[in-house]
Amino acid sequence: MENRSINLETDSSLSIVLSIGHEVLKTKEFSQGLDQLHHLGTSVSKHSFRVALLSVSLAKALHKRGISVDLTSLVRAALLHDFGILGRYEGKFYGIKSCCLFQHPKDSVKVAQSLFFNMTQKEVNTIASHMWPFSASLPCCKEAWIVNLSDKLVGSKEGLEGFYLYAKHRVSPKEGLPIWLRLQNRTIS
Ligand SMILES: [Fe+2]
Ligand SMILES: [Fe+2]
Repeated sequence: MENRSINLETDSSLSIVLSIGHEVLKTKEFSQGLDQLHHLGTSVSKHSFRVALLSVSLAKALHKRGISVDLTSLVRAALLHDFGILGRYEGKFYGIKSCCLFQHPKDSVKVAQSLFFNMTQKEVNTIASHMWPFSASLPCCKEAWIVNLSDKLVGSKEGLEGFYLYAKHRVSPKEGLPIWLRLQNRTIS
């Protein structure tokens, strides 16, 4: 894929994610994910975008300490890591539909490979291992560890915020949250 040259010291995390991730961001799957509830109060795609933003911020911090990261693999894998959830649920959490912790990383790899024939081993490992230690696949590269950590941090924050919202307002996940997501104008916060 073609990207303009990236400068980790001067470019913002947002501009880096938008530049490197443009092929993922324009897929119909990413649009679909904007409307699918995730972590109680956000959507699959907003979550994935936040994971990509935090991953790049961590990469920038590592860069300052002389540690280089494959930004293309990092951003692509972060944006694709939960595509296996799209259109399906396997369980319920506090009455809210949820996905399978163990299966969805494997499904995300399959969806990513169906969309992009040029997926690298690094990207595949990063997606497959993002649920470690809850799933068996171990992160085997820096990029995988970064996305794994970012997903935990972002997901935990979203889960707590969503649970608070759900508990406080008794919002119906089925009917209320799609409206809630649109009221936020799908902004990334
Ligand atoms: Fe996930
Ligand atoms: Fe995730």
